[in-house]
Amino acid sequence: METPITSRPVVGLLGATGITGRVALDHLLTRADEVGVEVLVGARDPDRVRARLDGRGPSAPQVLRVDLAEPATLAPFVARADVVLNLAGPYTRLAPPVIAACLDHGAHYVDLTGEAPLAHRTDLMHDRARAAGIAIVHTAGFEALPADILVDAARRHAAAAGETLRSADLVTRVRVPAGTGREEMISGGTAQSLVEVLRDPEPARLGDPAVRLAGLRAHAGTAVDPDAVRRCSPIRLRPRRSAGAVLAPMTPLASINPPVVHRTQALSPVAGAAATPLAFREATSLGCWGGTAGWARLAAAWLAAATQLAAVLASRLPHPVRARLADVLSRRLPPSGSGPQGDVLTGWSWETKGRFTTHEGGRFHGVLQAEGNPGYGTTAWMAAELALHMAQGVPETALGSSTPALALDGHLEALIPARVRIRLGE
Ligand SMILES: NC(=O)c1ccc[n+]([C@@H]2O[C@H](COP(=O)([O-])OP(=O)(O)OC[C@H]3O[C@@H](n4cnc5c(N)ncnc54)[C@H](OP(=O)(O)O)[C@@H]3O)[C@@H](O)[C@H]2O)c1
Repeated sequence: METPITSRPVVGLLGATGITGRVALDHLLTRADEVGVEVLVGARDPDRVRARLDGRGPSAPQVLRVDLAEPATLAPFVARADVVLNLAGPYTRLAPPVIAACLDHGAHYVDLTGEAPLAHRTDLMHDRARAAGIAIVHTAGFEALPADILVDAARRHAAAAGETLRSADLVTRVRVPAGTGREEMISGGTAQSLVEVLRDPEPARLGDPAVRLAGLRAHAGTAVDPDAVRRCSPIRLRPRRSAGAVLAPMTPLASINPPVVHRTQALSPVAGAAATPLAFREATSLGCWGGTAGWARLAAAWLAAATQLAAVLASRLPHPVRARLADVLSRRLPPSGSGPQGDVLTGWSWETKGRFTTHEGGRFHGVLQAEGNPGYGTTAWMAAELALHMAQGVPETALGSSTPALALDGHLEALIPARVRIRLGE
């Protein structure tokens, strides 16, 4: 088939048949014309995607056969894309050939992974990606885009007043519609991705907030010291009570967002940021403290903390033991392809409230408000909007192994179509 000539930038979507990918594809199709971007889809069974596109006539996006187990099928797809939005996980296993093809063909790359060993390996390719003129952005979903973007907005807010951000304290609260089952909360794809982290042969890095700063001082010239980050910003799992609410460690893993936030700080073009470490902490609010329900919430917070601690300890086991444990968990947890199938919008909302301080003594608040199931509605919309934004250009400061906030570069308005709004004030 002849490749149509287009002057529009192209966003290439992988994983369009998955739980998150289906929502992302629908979103891209409603937004592409508005933004002036062409959508291209790569799937191992193109007919399944075409069946979903039935009725769109000539405006339907082109679908190419791409099987990530056959890297040769990737080249024609990536060669046509300006940005590859990769929603095919688990990423540790499936993403490396996609990233390699993006480096070869000069396409930007966006995905949702919270798999730490993979992000670490990408960080080691920072200089190569910069030389190729591309940005590689992991964790562009509920993990870790909201925390990264809200802190970045606060960093810019402080800088506008001539100050430098010193600390960020975030609390996220999700409102779940009544009657929602567990299968609507976490997909098999996410469960299997967590298992892949355990299976990875590289040394465990879960729980290190500075894991994404490796090599930056030497290569990117940042002054942020990983040890200073570890000292001022440790990841704590212990539940707390604050402002009348029970706070549990961030879900699904407290170790995913902090390394991203610290990498943005270290590479930020905002004045003063890259010279100072940031004290960052975050938590999930389980609701009010008080009465019998309060005790039940506190028990749930301790259970979440104990589960996360078990994950950190399991990640430190010798590799053969971890690999065997991963095999067992992989069989017992929901399989890839299962998960939220229904309405990811109605009744769902969530917000992240932030309290911020500056080195100059300033204090202010911020809030990120969003609609939709955070993991499978808002995540797909945010990642799609970030890809659409990047298709129109990426600043030089965001090239390399990047972050959602570096790639968005302060353009908060780009997230409004993803139903995400940020406000900052006193
Ligand atoms: N950061 C966040 O907040 C966040 C939120 C949600 C999800 N995630 C992550 O996003 C990823 C996807 O989650 P999901 O629930 O949407 O997963 P899913 O439903 O299992 O979908 C996986 C997708 O990958 C495709 N795929 C698998 N192997 C492939 C191959 N060899 N070649 C081409 N395509 C292949 C599947 O295609 P087939 O249909 O052909 O199998 C499917 O489209 C997971 O890693 C998850 O952890 C992150």
